[in-house]
Amino acid sequence: MTIEKIRIIGAGAMGRGIAQVAATAGVEVEITDVSSEAVSAALEFVTTMLRRSAEKGQRTEADAEAAVARLHAGSEPTAPAGDIDLVIEAVVEQLDVKRSIFTELETVAPGAILASNTSSLSITAIGAVLRDPTRLLGLHFFNPVPLMKLVEVIPGLRTDPALVDVGREFVARLGHTAVLARDTPGFLVNHLGRGLPTEALAVLSEQTASAADIDRVARETLGLKMGPFELMDLTGLDVSHPVMETVSAGFYGDPRLRPSPIAAGRVAAGLLGRKTGEGFYPYLEGRQEVPA
Ligand code: NAI
Repeated sequence: MTIEKIRIIGAGAMGRGIAQVAATAGVEVEITDVSSEAVSAALEFVTTMLRRSAEKGQRTEADAEAAVARLHAGSEPTAPAGDIDLVIEAVVEQLDVKRSIFTELETVAPGAILASNTSSLSITAIGAVLRDPTRLLGLHFFNPVPLMKLVEVIPGLRTDPALVDVGREFVARLGHTAVLARDTPGFLVNHLGRGLPTEALAVLSEQTASAADIDRVARETLGLKMGPFELMDLTGLDVSHPVMETVSAGFYGDPRLRPSPIAAGRVAAGLLGRKTGEGFYPYLEGRQEVPA
């Protein structure tokens, strides 16, 4: 299935970013929101970003204008959508709101794949209220979408497995990279990436160091582009804090941040990494033998 036209529901930070990369990739984009001002602001924002990228020489003026011409203001989020191939929902992170949107979409967009950009809600739980939960998939973009090239493709327990490939192909067409993640709390990225922000907040609350110094250390010692606080600021604590709560609650308070017995065992065995020729990967003279 080729995705030619999408509808985005929610014209906030994420909806705008997804609109920009999709229009750039040749996809017709309809932007909708409960607020018509939000739609106008999003169109203006994305248009400015595209034109600015042409001024910077990142694309030709003609390409930027062609992308701008693919952006359309939709009427209502749940208006009839017979010509829409994919709907991407990026509204507030509330289960009941997302459920009610998809319940309506199921009827008004009979031929569309339904996707949620949720950070932390279960795709299975969102889809549980649908007559046909096989149509719902998670497509989790990161902020800012044009720069963050990773997208999690998340099938819920009842998602049609064929949608995974459609999702992957769509992500690749946007010039992004798809990773498949199971529908577990935090999926892959917010589960894996939970350790650093959680610990950084603990360090801050113990008054060991300032947020700026913790960020500096994270950048300079961990090689991250951004420290945890800079990242939380970028994401918005209203988004990242509930994600942390959801992931923790979803694993029933499992103290996953404890040191790992696996690591202790590998230290005892001398499997230290490059220096001993074997860590989690095998090495030949300090070079990884098998590419990751
Ligand atoms: P935002 O607050 O910037 O935008 C949300 C938009 O949804 C607003 O324009 C609002 O008017 C609209 N909206 C609210 N209820 C609506 C409804 N019932 N129907 C139509 N539109 C409605 O939020 P943001 O940051 O763009 O997040 C959106 C979704 O993306 C959330 O599920 C969030 O968890 C997820 N997400 C956010 C990331 C971030 O870094 N901000 C990263 C990845 C996912």
